[in-house]
Amino acid sequence: MEPTSYRRVLFLLMASLLLLLLSIRTWIRLPSLGSAKIELDCSEYGSWCTFKNRIQSRSGAFIQRTKPKQQQKADHESEVAKHPLDPLTLREIQRVQSIMQKTSIFNQGKFALHSVVLEEPLKEEVLSWKAGSNLPTRKASVIAWADGHAYKLIVDLVLGQIVENQISHENGYPAMTMEDMTSAVQVPLKSKEFVEIVEKRKVNMSDLACGPISSGWFGAGEEGLRLIKVMCFSSAGTANYFMRPIEGLVVLVDMDAKKVLKIIDDGKDIPLPKAEGTDYRLSAQKYPLIPPLNPISIEQPQGPSFKIDGHQVKWGSWEFHVKPDPRAGMIISVATVKDPETGKMRRVLYKGFTSELFVPYMDTSEGWYFKTYLDAGEYGIGLTAMSLDPLNDCPRNAYYMDGLFATADGTPYVRSNMVCIFERYAGEIAWRHTECPITDMQIREVRPKVTLVVRMAASVGNYDYIVDWEFQTDGLIRAKVGLSGILMIKGTKYENVDQISSTDELHGTLLAENIIGVSHDHYITFYLDMDIDGKDNSFVQVEMAKKTVKNGPTPRKSFWKAEKHIAQTEKDAQIKLSLYQPAEFHVINPSRKTNIGNPVGYKLVPGATAASLLDHDDPPQLRAAFTNNQIWVTPYNRSEEWAGGQYVYQSKGDDTLAVWSDRDRPIENKDIVIWYTLGFHHLPCQEDYPIMPTVSSSFDLKPTNFFDRNPIMRTTPCYEKDLPTCAASS
Ligand SMILES: *[C@@H]1O[C@H](CO)[C@@H](O)[C@H](O)[C@H]1NC(C)=O
Ligand SMILES: *[C@@H]1O[C@H](CO)[C@@H](O)[C@H](O)[C@H]1NC(C)=O
Repeated sequence: MEPTSYRRVLFLLMASLLLLLLSIRTWIRLPSLGSAKIELDCSEYGSWCTFKNRIQSRSGAFIQRTKPKQQQKADHESEVAKHPLDPLTLREIQRVQSIMQKTSIFNQGKFALHSVVLEEPLKEEVLSWKAGSNLPTRKASVIAWADGHAYKLIVDLVLGQIVENQISHENGYPAMTMEDMTSAVQVPLKSKEFVEIVEKRKVNMSDLACGPISSGWFGAGEEGLRLIKVMCFSSAGTANYFMRPIEGLVVLVDMDAKKVLKIIDDGKDIPLPKAEGTDYRLSAQKYPLIPPLNPISIEQPQGPSFKIDGHQVKWGSWEFHVKPDPRAGMIISVATVKDPETGKMRRVLYKGFTSELFVPYMDTSEGWYFKTYLDAGEYGIGLTAMSLDPLNDCPRNAYYMDGLFATADGTPYVRSNMVCIFERYAGEIAWRHTECPITDMQIREVRPKVTLVVRMAASVGNYDYIVDWEFQTDGLIRAKVGLSGILMIKGTKYENVDQISSTDELHGTLLAENIIGVSHDHYITFYLDMDIDGKDNSFVQVEMAKKTVKNGPTPRKSFWKAEKHIAQTEKDAQIKLSLYQPAEFHVINPSRKTNIGNPVGYKLVPGATAASLLDHDDPPQLRAAFTNNQIWVTPYNRSEEWAGGQYVYQSKGDDTLAVWSDRDRPIENKDIVIWYTLGFHHLPCQEDYPIMPTVSSSFDLKPTNFFDRNPIMRTTPCYEKDLPTCAASS
């Protein structure tokens, strides 16, 4: 049977089943209906409280399920900044564009804007600003490329002038623009040699799908030009062209001259993997589909508990600012939490974001060695963050925030629904205790956990990164990264593991006929400008030191003891994690104490993570030296935000966090920034084919002697009567 007619039959079958259900409705008890406990009436909540279209009123008439209240579309044309950290508005980006066009170095139209973002006001200005008062002068920070040079400009939007103009003398180039990427993949098509190779590989030019692969930096011979390597696939028979690489074909392209410099073709005997079974779209699936679970959603008949004003979020005990950013994806700023004892808002985090990613592949062959991406500084985690899919990327009642970015010529564009904010109730427990029968006290006290999540998802080519910032009412902040999307695939002649000789280096796992999932790592380095009750903080490594007892009064021979080491300089805080040298990592404010005298603090709690195994002098690791330690602490410096350096594309590693940290500056009782790297080793497995189920890892920022006691003890439990229940009105 043809798939389409098959589907039609299935549809008819389902429709008749539905009719049957309706005609015998009196015997069928739908879930959660008819129970004596139901106290809410549907009419109270109107159309909200229905269970798909299956609920009927007493009269037998359908209660039409209408859509829940939709968030109003933001009107970017009339938008004005309300907070000193609000991103540039559409009007402000337009103003930058017109100022650039009037400036002599750029007015021949021969410039490309690689980044147009808010030049954040000084920290003091932001912190002293009061809601309702005038904003500090709005300025834009612009990275422009003109005449073979990178310029860093500060544009004063009030004066309408460029007030700072710095030519870069650093190694490395700005992140690619979308235009760089889309034009680079067109370049090989002009080459006769390339077209011939593609034809020889039996790929129809109309099926060709090519991707821009940042070429990294591997020493002399690759300098002075903005280079990119273009790799191609066949999309014949599948939307998942990543599974059909034209293996070994690499085209080195000069991004500015838009010229092919070199073509490598060393995969001639490697067949094109099959298309069958690789398409992951719903429309391409074989029927019948896996039966769905019963419909599920978190209902909030009174709406969510957060309030969002522009980019300011208020929820539970938290207040913070969220800003989409082309490079970092999103930035969380001035996160403050309410102290339940005093009612005062207390600062925890001045600024937090994903500063850089490092994704090295473990294949050293000609077609693969350069695949060592620094995704934030080369591609932009925000530029590659696409619109989220309501109900699937984020649940009902999520609030969506748009990103506003600029094209290479400075024209603003809207990335709609780029960030979502929602409350998560996943059946977790905030705290609990039951008394066991020994005491006969019959105590059972439990509080449910509801959290607030701020989410975005970047699709950097094949890979998808889901970044969550999750806030808890007890003061904990969890940063989580989920990996999904499609593997980078290497074509191979092998179709079965039995064919592979033990001496053959596969560099990955055979996932299907002719397909190798190449081993690789992901490192995500977070910038965490902690401000525990103020700017000046110290970093304390609290070591669980093993102690032995010789001839003690009891038979015990060993124990551990917490030993505190306050980091004096940066090198004291270059930390490699180890299970057998356990430690906690506290950020304290030495001049603020709890009621009983502990310095107030937060601790950084690493989760599952990974460390790079590349040699420190391997070129990719030099450029990504910020992953040499899992934790670093630097003194706050406005120019040190990007762990891989300001200009990461083809960088040589002379402007990384590792270089800054080796200056060994004092960090005790100073405004400090903590850097944490979340890592994954990824040895692909068959379940990752043809698209990967999400794997994730996280770390926490947890209050540690910050509050005087459990800050959520006085919260109330859930009662059935307070909860929405979907029920028929009858
Ligand atoms: C190549 O693509 C063209 C245009 O879609 C189509 O007409 C032609 O039949 C294709 N050739 C092969 C060999 O698939
Ligand atoms: C701030 O950072 C920049 C860039 O790394 C550096 O040149 C400058 O010396 C730093 N300033 C201080 C005080 O460390």
